[in-house]
Amino acid sequence: MGCLTAGEQKYSRGLEGVIAAISSISCIDGEEGHLIYRGYPIEVLAKYSTYEETAFLLLKGHLPNKKEYEEFKQQLKENAKLHPGMIDVITKFMMDAHPMDVIRSMVSLMGVFCPDKKEHTLEAKYQKAIRVTAKLPTMIAAFHRLREGKEIIDPDPNLNYAENFLYMMTGEKPDELSAKVLDIALILHAEHGMNASTFSGMVTASSLSDIYSAITSAIGTLKGPLHGGANERVMHMLDEIGSLENVKSYIENALAEKKKIMGFGHRVYKAYDPRAKILKDWAYKLCEMKGDLMHFKMGEEIEKIMIEKVGKKGIYPNVDFYSGLVYTHLGIPRDIFTPVFAMARSIGWSAHIVEYMEANRIYRPRAIYNGPIDLEYKPIEERE
Ligand code: ACO
Repeated sequence: MGCLTAGEQKYSRGLEGVIAAISSISCIDGEEGHLIYRGYPIEVLAKYSTYEETAFLLLKGHLPNKKEYEEFKQQLKENAKLHPGMIDVITKFMMDAHPMDVIRSMVSLMGVFCPDKKEHTLEAKYQKAIRVTAKLPTMIAAFHRLREGKEIIDPDPNLNYAENFLYMMTGEKPDELSAKVLDIALILHAEHGMNASTFSGMVTASSLSDIYSAITSAIGTLKGPLHGGANERVMHMLDEIGSLENVKSYIENALAEKKKIMGFGHRVYKAYDPRAKILKDWAYKLCEMKGDLMHFKMGEEIEKIMIEKVGKKGIYPNVDFYSGLVYTHLGIPRDIFTPVFAMARSIGWSAHIVEYMEANRIYRPRAIYNGPIDLEYKPIEERE
């Protein structure tokens, strides 16, 4: 028998260290704490760019000129509305469904309502990717309003991507700082290399399936608590701690009991996550404007103690430590934190999917067989 057996081949649990693609989309230096998208440091993009411009950069590979930028923003706006058939379906969902289940199902439905489903050119792939990114905020906000017994709000073409999401959620146009902070959080979550959800989308696309199927796979993967969702748990931890005075004893006890502190540590970053550094400053500005610095001060105290105790092991705040705080103070409910991550990351997923499909080879790894060989087949009457 030619089965692969233990010892014959190198096995990497969780594919750790396995190189599964060549990509020019982003680069992470985990030792020094740097992240670049298409050659631009994340700090520069957070300072000067917008989510829409960064999305164009990630998808198309270069910063847009003025005409390209205006056209891209227009495409996002024109595609933000949901097809009436999709609205019909979303109103029939169970209103206690998790919003991640809702968006996974709605992106899958986009394949059914797609006007150019049989087109597979590069341009058609871009169009489908733009449609997914454009419609995700509308889907999330629509479901949130329906479950609150409110009317769905249509996207407003006069607002940008971040403003529109907050407007469709609440019915009110957001203040400038709130919209800016969300815009930056979206830039920081737009792309992060070969993580589990990106890989999952690429595997689906590698069979020459379609963008909607690939992004449906990616959303399903992001849903798991080992991937998206740490920011939600950071907020639960802050609730549990309760006050600034309790921080020291809570963290020291948790570390003594070998518990993981949510929002700290990263498989790749062994230095301060550069995204967390940027978001921390904006979280401060937002909390100060809202007149509620309690969570922020608790966060800073946790950070100080953690760096003192475990910083030498390479454990620092990750992006999710401050994103939960930001979303909370933007009035976003906790079960919508991961859908916001999906909304931002949809463009990174699409960029990888399109890039891989341009030089496609179907993903087909193998497993080491550790079962029996040559068993005798007994008729059912003779089996115990
Ligand atoms: N709190 C306390 N100790 C920690 C933490 C933490 N958050 N993270 C790692 N450690 C310690 C471990 O206990 C271990 O210590 P030991 O060597 O003394 O046993 C050591 O650091 C290595 O930890 P691993 O779990 O092996 O690190 P790994 O790279 O596998 O895990 C992970 C990375 C999953 C992110 C981990 O740090 C963790 O669970 N963090 C908390 C959850 C979290 O914030 N996730 C969000 C990640 S960012 C994102 O997905 C967008």
